[in-house]
Amino acid sequence: MPGLLLDTLRGANTPQRPVWLMRQAGRYLPEYRALRAEKGGFLALVYDSEAAAEITLQPIRRYGLDGAILFSDILIVPYAMGQDLEFLVGEGPRLSPRLVDTALENLHMVPDRLKPIYDTVKRVKAMLPTDKTMLGFAGSPWTVATYMVAGEGSRDQHDTRAMAYRDPGAFQAIIDAITSVTIEYLIGQIVAGAEAVQLFDSWSGSLAPAEFERWVIAPNARIVAALNARYPHIPVIGFPKGAGEKLPAYARETGVTALGLDETIDPLWAAQALPAGLPVQGNLDPLLLIAGGAELETQARRILDAFADRPHIFNLGHGIGQTTPLEHVGELLSLVRGWRI
Ligand code: CP3
Repeated sequence: MPGLLLDTLRGANTPQRPVWLMRQAGRYLPEYRALRAEKGGFLALVYDSEAAAEITLQPIRRYGLDGAILFSDILIVPYAMGQDLEFLVGEGPRLSPRLVDTALENLHMVPDRLKPIYDTVKRVKAMLPTDKTMLGFAGSPWTVATYMVAGEGSRDQHDTRAMAYRDPGAFQAIIDAITSVTIEYLIGQIVAGAEAVQLFDSWSGSLAPAEFERWVIAPNARIVAALNARYPHIPVIGFPKGAGEKLPAYARETGVTALGLDETIDPLWAAQALPAGLPVQGNLDPLLLIAGGAELETQARRILDAFADRPHIFNLGHGIGQTTPLEHVGELLSLVRGWRI
């Protein structure tokens, strides 16, 4: 039994909508915080495949979501490409040496940093009910590059956008290297049991139109083509956060199977602007799930109703917030599960 999520990704307009939540395994869950405290930090958890598999399954056990997303991080790719990676408490990730200070040629691939992730996928797949979907993921090359260049998250991706303008040849080499490792990494996840994959492009919204074509659309199209050539039955969800009016072009030109929408997108606009039949995923504001109340119900229904004519996976517009009350998640799920076309 493939289940609601895979059916939807394959183009079925199912009367009941599948639902999962970006960042569904994480700090809003007490069972996650307990295991994290025991294992001593985020990266230690990611590289303990048994613990990582358990964390991947925690939100499935608690809420019965339709997809289990691999517990890992988009920055595992730079780590495997040879940068050092640390997660500083309260500050976020740090990569070194930063590509503003060192050339790409000075980094050396460490393939052993990918293998434990495949082991996590295998473990989850073996334990996951067959009507739930095992989701693999990677960051998109542009977003991953912004962390590799600046060494950390940045508000407007200043260093990376400047490098791309100043030295497009060198920046293209960085994008190409990330793209190749990402293809290999996603193939590894698929071989281990991932049934669909998502490409997270959290910072695609900071690019001007021509740069969006070159640094977002082109590398994502290359990834989709490489995966389709080997695994035509594995759906690829593209999530170009902040892409706004560039979404129709992104969908057409990358060839993604499904399109993730962030909360800034009006579902009524998306329903008419995107290619007919294209499955969409999203897009409730994660802050509304924190706030709760009547508005949560109104807006969740507005999203469900707007996408009634096409395959739709209910999700948030971005990752679930750390302070989200558990009972609001429960309320949202009963609403989505009770809705019918
Ligand atoms: O969705 C899931 O549950 C799967 C696991 C997942 C994580 N990160 C776990 C994580 C996924 C898909 C990601 C994606 C990710 N990571 C993105 C793209 C999506 C987005 O949110 O924009 C980005 C930009 C990152 C990089 C990253 N990882 C940052 C900026 C941070 C620090 C900020 C924070 O929330 O602490 C992380 C850490 C991280 N990745 C945590 C988790 C559960 C928190 C770790 C902890 O402190 O326990």
